[in-house]
Amino acid sequence: MPATLIDGKATAARMTAEIADDAAAFQRTTGIVPQLVAVLVGDDPASAVYVRNKQRACEKAGLKSTLHRLPTETTEIQLLDLVEQLNGDPAVHGILVQLPLPKHIREQVILDAVIASKDVDCFHPENVGLLVQGRPRFLPCTPAGCQRLLAEYKIETAGAHAVVLGRSEIVGKPMAMLLVQRGAVADATVTICHSRTRDLASIVRQADIIVAAIGKARFVTADMVKPGAVVLDVGINREGDKLVGDVDFEPVSQVASAITPVPGGVGPMTIATLLRNTLTAAQLSVG
Ligand code: GUN
Repeated sequence: MPATLIDGKATAARMTAEIADDAAAFQRTTGIVPQLVAVLVGDDPASAVYVRNKQRACEKAGLKSTLHRLPTETTEIQLLDLVEQLNGDPAVHGILVQLPLPKHIREQVILDAVIASKDVDCFHPENVGLLVQGRPRFLPCTPAGCQRLLAEYKIETAGAHAVVLGRSEIVGKPMAMLLVQRGAVADATVTICHSRTRDLASIVRQADIIVAAIGKARFVTADMVKPGAVVLDVGINREGDKLVGDVDFEPVSQVASAITPVPGGVGPMTIATLLRNTLTAAQLSVG
């Protein structure tokens, strides 16, 4: 039997409606409209699309969104100046510096400069530390989006073996951290696989839940998937005009019990979590 299709688009739309209700209630009591500021440096077309999608989603949730578009030649110092200005602006609640940055700018320097209380990407060491300790301030956007999909589709995680493919700071590491925590939609036994993992396929074959975030088109093939496993595909790869995930979708969906499509799976959930974090930042700003 083919797998259940996990509909991230519809789930994200429901989440956005919840956030819109909460943002409206917050505005009624405080008079504050939560504001997300996105910073986009250079002219990477994919990044421009992602940022536009984030801005549209803000509008749907009744959040204010502002874009700072800077040329590729922007220096690290100029970008740091902008981040400092946004850090100090009380009308700005969330700051998102879209990645990747041009090569001459050190990403870590810029990301570390974003004040922790406005770090809606959950990249700041203080926020990562809180997450690791199981008392998160913000949620890592893509991993929390994946977790919400597991919750919505009532997928048992307690005691399950979750295999995360990829060890990035944005997805792999925080994904593993969420799933290993005590509590709901967690309590999993987690393995992280990466480019140096020995006999990766045999480990993935043991997984009840697979989260693919390695950035290689169609990397997860049907022979790597245990029958009945749940597959979350974080990859966004271009094949000509087509977007494909890190999972070989058609054959894997014949083996898995549930699977996310690309597009329309994890991607919209990342954005919905970003909106939630922006509202959280605004709520925290009033104590
Ligand atoms: N580029 C690709 N994904 C992301 C993300 O989640 N946050 C930021 N800031 N940039 C990205």
